[in-house]
Amino acid sequence: MDDLQHKINSLDKSRIPVHVAMIMDGNGRWAKQKGFVRSDGHAEGISTVHRVTQLSSDLGVRYLTLYAFSTENWNRPSDEVATLMYLIGWAIERELPELLRNNVRINLLGDIDRIPDDARQRLFYARQATAHCTGLQLNMCLSYSSRWEITEAARKLAAKAANGEIRPEEITEKMFSDNLTTAGIPDPDLLIRTGGEERISNYLLWQIAYSELYFTPVLWPDFSDSDYIDALIDFQNRERRFGMTSEQVQNNE
Ligand code: IPE
Ligand code: IPE
Ligand code: MG
Repeated sequence: MDDLQHKINSLDKSRIPVHVAMIMDGNGRWAKQKGFVRSDGHAEGISTVHRVTQLSSDLGVRYLTLYAFSTENWNRPSDEVATLMYLIGWAIERELPELLRNNVRINLLGDIDRIPDDARQRLFYARQATAHCTGLQLNMCLSYSSRWEITEAARKLAAKAANGEIRPEEITEKMFSDNLTTAGIPDPDLLIRTGGEERISNYLLWQIAYSELYFTPVLWPDFSDSDYIDALIDFQNRERRFGMTSEQVQNNE
């Protein structure tokens, strides 16, 4: 048995996280280290997306949420932004048959109207073509930022209050969650950031209130199945207390 299979076998299959979120960071540095241009790192990163999607699906993860492009990333040099948009459209089209075979449902989170026409149409097509799929839900965060999303939710609720649909005192955490782009999706159990930075960069700020955070120095294009399993093993060794005592948690189990 190879090392990877051995590691997979050591996972507790009854405690696979329902929702894994990832900040796919380090493409630019990966390319630079190899003497390539930054966009070569993005192109290489697509193969990691392919692998983590496959492995998540195989392991029975229900939701995989990937940070592909942030609101702040619009401030990058225009040629890098253009290449990224091209790659996103190209990759979703190329991956579609395999996503369908694996029963993966595509969902888009973010200010998708800002995505250039060509890539946006391919994304919409993939979302519609996989709408019937009942396996892994792959949430692609594009032109996404948490503050954007929270502001949008506040705006929607304010509009409902202003037109008399709701009263301000009726607003609950649940109602707020239901007005985020992640409405109906359980909060991430595990958030993985590759690339060595230990920050959140405006990602899922509301939703990660009680997520387990895992940071790895491995650059996204190098993030292997084995690295992913390491993160899952680390996750399974943690005690999630949600504000309670360790004794309470153990008695509840
Ligand atoms: C992550 O890699 C991909 C995107 C943000 C689109 P980066 O491009 O941020 O890579 P580094 O952090 O510069 O190495
Ligand atoms: C976060 O990575 C956004 C994505 C991975 C899409 P960045 O590379 O943009 O984050 P910062 O700027 O280093 O915080
Ligand atoms: Mg980065």
